[in-house]
Amino acid sequence: MLQVGDGLAGFSAFFVLVLLGTRSALCSTALTASLYVFLLMFRYPQVPQSRARHVLRPRGAASVVAHRGGGHDAPENTLAAIREASRNGAAGVELDLEFTADGIPVLMHDETVDRTTNGSGRLGNMRFSDLRRLDASAKHRLKERFRGERVPTLQEAVEECVRHQLAIYFDVKGHPDEAAAALKELYRNHPVLYNTSIVCSFEPKVIYKMRQADPEVATALTHRPWSLSRFGDGTPRFRSPWKHRWMQLLDVLLDWAHHHLLWNLCGVSAFLVQKSFISPDYVQYWAERGVEVVGWTVNTAVEKQYYQELLKITYLTDSLKEDCEPHY
Ligand SMILES: *[C@@H]1O[C@H](CO)[C@@H](O)[C@H](O)[C@H]1NC(C)=O
Ligand SMILES: *[C@@H]1O[C@H](CO)[C@@H](O)[C@H](O)[C@H]1NC(C)=O
Repeated sequence: MLQVGDGLAGFSAFFVLVLLGTRSALCSTALTASLYVFLLMFRYPQVPQSRARHVLRPRGAASVVAHRGGGHDAPENTLAAIREASRNGAAGVELDLEFTADGIPVLMHDETVDRTTNGSGRLGNMRFSDLRRLDASAKHRLKERFRGERVPTLQEAVEECVRHQLAIYFDVKGHPDEAAAALKELYRNHPVLYNTSIVCSFEPKVIYKMRQADPEVATALTHRPWSLSRFGDGTPRFRSPWKHRWMQLLDVLLDWAHHHLLWNLCGVSAFLVQKSFISPDYVQYWAERGVEVVGWTVNTAVEKQYYQELLKITYLTDSLKEDCEPHY
């Protein structure tokens, strides 16, 4: 497979070309044809749906996956959280992959260790041996119960999940090359992962690199409309009105690219979508294309009921036990 130069710049250029192209029928036909050829040349086919369903519907319709291992019930992204999720009946766990300064793959959501541990500073500047001294339960509401919990390596977390027969949703934020290499190795050492796990990312590049490294790995794109211009709670990311407008334009582009180009190019098996944007029609639209929709982060009893009885799709939740505020 050839490399594809991707990124937002590429899409912007492409979009501008399409806009210009639509001015003449010939141009737009040529563009559509070249896009089609481009897709045929570079796309990865989906993994077999029968295999993807093991991880997308591990317990049938509306399976429950513990977001960050279930960050409300136990310290997020820890072995204790994985055990707790299993005990509370989760079908799977969603875990965040990051890297220490010395390149060890570990579970961590943020770029810094401040929010979840008793340490401070950027994870990317910290050696694994220093990270390991920190208490990963230090900031949790149940810290007394989980005292002394450490930040686990990816390897330890996977072994714990395999022991408990949990499906795994690997959430990869960045470092496409390192992540693809680390996950490829992991799948090689634990072939059961081909049946029980999926690699997910907001970044199409991460997913494309993963398919390049090992096309047998099931993947999903994570999507929240307006994610470039607004935070999860809806407040704008940028104060400058110009910057905000520009980011909104890129949001429209990214949304278009996800729904018309990237899902096909990457051959994803699922879309992980922010819960407010999921409707029965949306689920149906993707079902017709052989793609499952998974909702996040579904935390109240009313929302869970909606997923279980109406949408009947798998969802991520912070708690298997009680209502709580979502973490974005
Ligand atoms: C964090 O907590 C652990 C375990 O209690 C302790 O050994 C370590 O020294 C603490 N680190 C900091 C930076 O406070
Ligand atoms: C994956 O599941 C299929 C059945 O769906 C089975 O034949 C295969 O052996 C499994 N592979 C691994 C590595 O567990």
